[in-house]
Amino acid sequence: MAVVSVCQFVPEREQPVHPRDAPVFLFNAILIFMKPYAERTHEAMKDVLMEPQASGPAVHYYMIRGGSEKKNITVWESGTVGGEYIKAYGHYHIDDFKETYWIIEGSGILLMQMRKKDAAGHFIDNEIEWVKAVNVKAGDTYVIPPFAGHLMINTGPTWLVTSDDSPVYFDDSPANPKHADYAPVKKMNGFAYYAIEKDGNVEFVKNPRYQNIPELVVS
Ligand SMILES: [Fe+2]
Repeated sequence: MAVVSVCQFVPEREQPVHPRDAPVFLFNAILIFMKPYAERTHEAMKDVLMEPQASGPAVHYYMIRGGSEKKNITVWESGTVGGEYIKAYGHYHIDDFKETYWIIEGSGILLMQMRKKDAAGHFIDNEIEWVKAVNVKAGDTYVIPPFAGHLMINTGPTWLVTSDDSPVYFDDSPANPKHADYAPVKKMNGFAYYAIEKDGNVEFVKNPRYQNIPELVVS
């Protein structure tokens, strides 16, 4: 039975589940087991849009989570919202994991940024050391450097489809996987640059919430 096989994974957790949390833990476990997919809605994306009041598609992208071995699939809508190309929410990793992206269909931009660190070695969310935009298309592979924030942008006319090898944990959430830290991006209303459509071309606009944004390196 499905629930029995889920429970077999319980001893692999680093920390035992407190009995108080067991119902929620089991609920999440069953959810990930039964429904390994999620969608990023327009409502959720308002946190990181250049124009959060603009209208857009009900769902900006779809995620199917399989983990490092089975892989994860993401499918982005095409088009713009308030002039900005449809994109991922964007996140940093909670550790030095190197994530690989394979572009399966479509074309777009992989936007990456590295935060500066303070004297104590902690990342500063509103100060960026470098920002890179890599043009990608079906057939390309790209490895995200450790600790670099990253998001995909669909600048093409078709669905943008990628595969990646980020991990899925036992009691993970398909919409908010534990390996990803979304909070610094939410706090800054997106990355240091927004990719906008102008006369059929891609242009980049600085996010004024960041300090001293470095020039964008495009490749
Ligand atoms: Fe990632």
